[in-house]
Amino acid sequence: MNGPLQSTVRVWDLPVRVFHWSFAVAFAGAYLLGESERWRDVHVALGYAAAALVGFRLVWGFVGTHHARFASFRYTPVQAWQYLSKLSRGQAAHHTGHNPAGSWAIYALLALGLATAVSGWLRYEDVGGEAVEAAHELLANAWLGLVILHVAAVLTSSVLHRENLPRAMLSGYKQAAAGEPDVAPRTAVGVGLLLATVALVAGLIVRGAGSVESPPGAKHPARSEIAGHARPDDD
Ligand code: HEM
Repeated sequence: MNGPLQSTVRVWDLPVRVFHWSFAVAFAGAYLLGESERWRDVHVALGYAAAALVGFRLVWGFVGTHHARFASFRYTPVQAWQYLSKLSRGQAAHHTGHNPAGSWAIYALLALGLATAVSGWLRYEDVGGEAVEAAHELLANAWLGLVILHVAAVLTSSVLHRENLPRAMLSGYKQAAAGEPDVAPRTAVGVGLLLATVALVAGLIVRGAGSVESPPGAKHPARSEIAGHARPDDD
């Protein structure tokens, strides 16, 4: 980890990269459309997508390639703190996979994504009343806060380690010490799992759309109630 960075190796497999940018889009879209009545269905669909993507990532964390596995970024809070304190002095070691602080941010991003989606679903199904509504908003804002921190940390690490980390999340390749092996791609398995995720999301959306068309008052009172909450300036 501390040796000179002499080679470039494949670190992020294709499923991780597709997951990452899809998760980012699902978050951004759902957050931006959260207040809009007109785009309510898209907001809900993006929430389902975020939850399904977390589901995919949890599975991939056990069966994916080396740097995608949770076992490869299992750090204690003390290690994360020590990493941050060294980073502030410009002495943090370079990590080929996730660094100790980043790994905790990743667990939290996944947990918040799932919790926000589940609370949104409960809200949509009119379970839990105002408490769930407040929890959904709080979780969404906490998720936003963490995303901002995540992007700031990625950019800071990029500058300190003189390495373009966003580009690595696009290409899959990072700098590494000489002799570090490429991860095996395992693309077929990962893409299969991702496609299963997409199918799951599509199924949920179709099911949701079907129940929206059901006779008024038959089910999902929160959906009609949500319609009644349109803001005056919201078309
Ligand atoms: C412009 C915006 C973003 C950039 C440039 C970015 C960049 C990155 C980079 C470089 C990594 C790898 C970090 C490392 O080297 O350890 C990463 C990981 C990650 N990011 Fe982002 N990110 C962005 C937005 C987001 C958003 C919006 C979310 C959540 C909604 C997110 C969730 C994650 C997660 C969960 C991982 C772990 C990936 C994995 O192991 O599967 N990112 N991001």
